[in-house]
Amino acid sequence: MTTVAFLGAGIMGAPMARNLLKSGIDVTVWNRTEAKARALESEGAAVASSPEEAVRGADVVITMLSDGDVVREAITAAAPGLRAGQVWAQMSTVGVAAAGRLAALAAEHGLTYVDAPVQGTKQPAEQGTLVILAAGPESARLVLSPVFAALGQRTLWLDDDGASIAGTRLKMATVSYSISLTAVVAEALALAQGLGLDAALVREVVTGGPMDNPYFQLKSKAILEGDYTPSFTVTNAEKDTRLIVEAGESAGVKLDMVAAAGARFRRAQAQGHGDADMSATYHASFEAS
Ligand SMILES: NC(=O)c1ccc[n+]([C@@H]2O[C@H](COP(=O)([O-])OP(=O)(O)OC[C@H]3O[C@@H](n4cnc5c(N)ncnc54)[C@H](OP(=O)(O)O)[C@@H]3O)[C@@H](O)[C@H]2O)c1
Repeated sequence: MTTVAFLGAGIMGAPMARNLLKSGIDVTVWNRTEAKARALESEGAAVASSPEEAVRGADVVITMLSDGDVVREAITAAAPGLRAGQVWAQMSTVGVAAAGRLAALAAEHGLTYVDAPVQGTKQPAEQGTLVILAAGPESARLVLSPVFAALGQRTLWLDDDGASIAGTRLKMATVSYSISLTAVVAEALALAQGLGLDAALVREVVTGGPMDNPYFQLKSKAILEGDYTPSFTVTNAEKDTRLIVEAGESAGVKLDMVAAAGARFRRAQAQGHGDADMSATYHASFEAS
């Protein structure tokens, strides 16, 4: 049976670990705030009190933590428990530069590094329908096959080269789409509201027409109902806008939309909405909301 050390039981990590357990995989979870890991105990997870304890003896290490620095700290703390040849699937969104540094860190510890960020938010994580954007050596695919099958509806293997970070590169492009789209939906609703209209009218016009899409429905519903229960927090979305802009700069590609979305997220954070869903970028259109 495959054994997985799962580092990070946040909005995404907890349901992902739960799906591994449901598919019969042996999972040990570590999370900084231990209560979130303990919540998975009744579903069969073992809880580790440190990254080192979690990774000891595991076939696969998965990281689903907030950013590259946090991932590096967790793997560094895990180091005494790591074993050369262990497969490390790095599934957090860390950006191109940090993904390269993490691949080097994996090499230092003799780990088989798989760059495997995901597209899809809290609900696909719960339903096991994420799209996994994976790059890593052929040798890791067999061991990861039941793991990724439990987490996602599809795995796109992008490269055979062990040092590749093609998953993260593709993730930068796809998450730029979802983040910019959210900002644009929020702005359209805010503008209608500001012009003295019922913002729901925007939804009425768009629904069922050529501009409609499930993401528009999801985010406009959140805004119209004022339900900002986080699927993807403003703070993580703001982090991603910086990573995307950096990726664009390194490639000589100008990215105006995502930079503007980043400015909106920073305003929403300053208004106290950092832990809310990124649809709370709606508030950034108004002075004191
Ligand atoms: N939510 C989405 O829709 C989505 C979709 C695709 C990818 N992602 C990416 O997946 C990753 C996780 O996202 P999420 O939505 O699950 O975020 P989240 O709920 O904010 O979880 C963040 C995780 O990182 C941990 N963490 C943060 N700072 C830490 C520190 N200094 N030391 C140790 N642990 C720390 C948190 O521990 P605590 O519980 O102790 O705070 C938690 O386990 C991020 O890279 C995000 O960009 C998110």
